[in-house]
Amino acid sequence: MEEFEAFLNDGGIVEAPDDMPDEYRDAVFTFIEMHANSELMGGLTERDWIPKTPGLRHKMSVVAKTQDEIGHGHLLYMVAADMGVKTRTEMLEDLFDGKSRFHNVFHYQAKTWGDQVAIAFLVDAAALASQQAVFKNCSYGPYRRILKRIISEEGFHMRLGEDRMMRIANGSQVQRDLFQDAINRWFWPSLQLFGPDSKPNDKLLRWHIKSERNEVLRDAWVQKFVPLLQSYGFTIPAPDMKFDETTNRWDVGPIDWEPLKATLAQGGPDSARRISEALSNWQQTAWVREALDAPAPEIAAMT
Ligand SMILES: [Fe+2]
Ligand SMILES: [Fe+2]
Repeated sequence: MEEFEAFLNDGGIVEAPDDMPDEYRDAVFTFIEMHANSELMGGLTERDWIPKTPGLRHKMSVVAKTQDEIGHGHLLYMVAADMGVKTRTEMLEDLFDGKSRFHNVFHYQAKTWGDQVAIAFLVDAAALASQQAVFKNCSYGPYRRILKRIISEEGFHMRLGEDRMMRIANGSQVQRDLFQDAINRWFWPSLQLFGPDSKPNDKLLRWHIKSERNEVLRDAWVQKFVPLLQSYGFTIPAPDMKFDETTNRWDVGPIDWEPLKATLAQGGPDSARRISEALSNWQQTAWVREALDAPAPEIAAMT
């Protein structure tokens, strides 16, 4: 392990067929698996909104975003499967059995169009910041290369979120109220996407998977989004929030981590429905996988 860590500290990049300590393999695999699960669950949320999205312009962007997120899931499951810990099918079965994790924000329900705007504006920006921090210095080569592609598409999602936000902010009072209501429900889950403060000896930092501590990324998000939302006349649902004149920084006050813990144990407000919907989507699309796997004569017979 000492030798391996020296290799990583020298900027060494690990490839799938390389020898690596089991601890490193397991930690990196679990991290990528959670990312893959989150892309899939995010894509399914987006898909739910295709029929409900107002207007053709927004609808086209939701269709494109759904394709992007499901595509990110595919790429990441492929990278994770190449690590030889679990197959893609085993990862999906674990997801449907509630045995593996996905990000906290996908344990909540997007109830209104305002929620969809808040997700694209606040959540996609938080996810992009986390992914950029991994891409910056990631020691696992296949993940780093796939992240380059994912990040470029997530950049579009962030711009889409800004566009949606500006449209709703410049809309009618009904639209502004809808968005304020969404901010009230999504501000804290979005902030908690970064996770609690990193432990002093976080293995993912030591092994150059993450390049930045959770609290640093979280604070950068706060410093960007609090003044931005306020500049459009919206309020932040943080009663103890303060502005420190000496440092010029916002402090959102104490963070209640209980909702995050609940989502990690699959006990979030919408976890059960989300997981069962993902499973039924998988079952309903079984015929596509069977058709693709079928030998050529059977495909001919089906058509
Ligand atoms: Fe994505
Ligand atoms: Fe995204």
